[in-house]
Amino acid sequence: MLTSFDSHGASAAIRARGVSQCLVWLWHSLTRRASVYSLQSKAFTAMKNTSASCFVGRNVHLYWFSGSGNTLLAAISLANELRSCGVEVELRSLEKSDPTMIDPDAIFAVAFPTHCFTLPEFVRDFALRLPRVDGTPAFMLTTVGLCSGGVHGPLKAILTQKGFHCIGARQLLMPDSFFAFIHGTMAQRMIRSAQKRAAAYAHRLVDGKTSWRRVPVVSDLYAAFFRWFFRGRNMTRSCRYPVVYAREKSCIRCHRCVQMCPVEALVSIGNEPPKPELHCTLCLRCVAVCPVNAMRLCLMGLPPYRPKHDNELTSLFKNIFSKSD
Ligand SMILES: Cc1cc2nc3c(=O)[nH]c(=O)nc-3n(C[C@H](O)[C@H](O)[C@H](O)COP(=O)(O)O)c2cc1C
Ligand code: SF4
Ligand code: SF4
Repeated sequence: MLTSFDSHGASAAIRARGVSQCLVWLWHSLTRRASVYSLQSKAFTAMKNTSASCFVGRNVHLYWFSGSGNTLLAAISLANELRSCGVEVELRSLEKSDPTMIDPDAIFAVAFPTHCFTLPEFVRDFALRLPRVDGTPAFMLTTVGLCSGGVHGPLKAILTQKGFHCIGARQLLMPDSFFAFIHGTMAQRMIRSAQKRAAAYAHRLVDGKTSWRRVPVVSDLYAAFFRWFFRGRNMTRSCRYPVVYAREKSCIRCHRCVQMCPVEALVSIGNEPPKPELHCTLCLRCVAVCPVNAMRLCLMGLPPYRPKHDNELTSLFKNIFSKSD
C-alpha cells in the first residue's frame, strides 16, 4: 500500500516523465521538420540549378503581347540580353501565333501587360489552348503601371497543369497606359530602367537564379474576381465603360488603328470613324498608334500614353510582325 508520501512521489515522477516525454516529442518533431525543410531547400536549389541547365542546347520562343508598346520594348531587351548570353531567341507575336503549334523542345516564354490586376483575357485564352507537354521549361514577364496580384499564380497553375516546368516570373514597373499620368522625360526614365531590369532578368534566368512562386487559392480567387469585374464593362453595346472612341472631327480616316488592332475589333462603316466591337480587349494599341490623337480612351480626357512617337511605334510593331510571319 502506498503512503501519502509515496503516492505524492509517484505522481511527481509521472508528471516529470510526462514533461520529459513532451520535450522529447517536441525535439523530435522540430528535428523532423528541420530535416524536411532542409530536404525541401535542397530540392529547391536543385530545381533552380536545373533551370540553369534548361538553356543548354535549347532555343527560346518568346511570345509577346503588347498594347501601347511597353511590353514589346521590355521583351526586346530581354531577348537581346539572352542572345548576348549565347541563347537563340525568336520573338513571336502572340496574336499571330497558334498555341497548339508551339515547339515543345524550345523554352516557352511569354511577355504581356497586366490588365485589371490579372492576365489579359487574350493571353489567358492562349495559355488555355496550349497543348500538353512533358516538362518544357517556361518563364514569363509582365509589365505593370502599379501592381498585379493575379498574374503569376493563375498562369503558373495553367502551365503546370499542361506539364510545363515553370522556371521564372518577373514583373516590371512601366508608365501606366490606362490612367496615362506619366509622360515625357519621366516616362522615358522609367522605360530605360525597366529595360535594364529585363536585361538583368535574362542573366538571372541563364544563371538559374530565378523562381516562379504562386500563392494557391488566394491568387486564383483574386484573379477570378477581377476577370469577372473587367468582363462586366463590355456586356452591352449601349452601356460600356471604359471604351475607346475616335473623335469625329480629328479623325483623318487613315485606318491605321483598324490595321493594328490585335483582335480585329475596330469597324468603320462608310465614312464614319472606326468604332470598337464588344470583343475589344481595351489594350489601347489603337490609341497609341493614332497619328492625330483622335482615338482616345473615354477616361478623364487625358492625353494618350505611348512609349515612342506614333510613327516609330507603328514601324516597330510592323517590323516585328513581319519577322513573326
Ligand atoms: C485595360 C488596362 C488595365 C490595366 N490594369 C492594370 C492593373 O491592374 N495594374 C497595373 O499595375 N497596371 C495596369 N495597367 C497598366 C499596364 O499594365 C501597363 O501600363 C503596361 O506596361 C502596359 O503595357 P503595354 O504597353 O505593353 O500594353 C492596365 C492597362 C490597361 C490598358
Ligand atoms: S488611326 Fe486615328 S485618325 Fe486614323 S482612322 Fe484611327 S482614329 Fe482615325
Ligand atoms: S479596339 Fe480595343 S482591342 Fe483593338 S486596338 Fe483598340 S483597344 Fe485594342
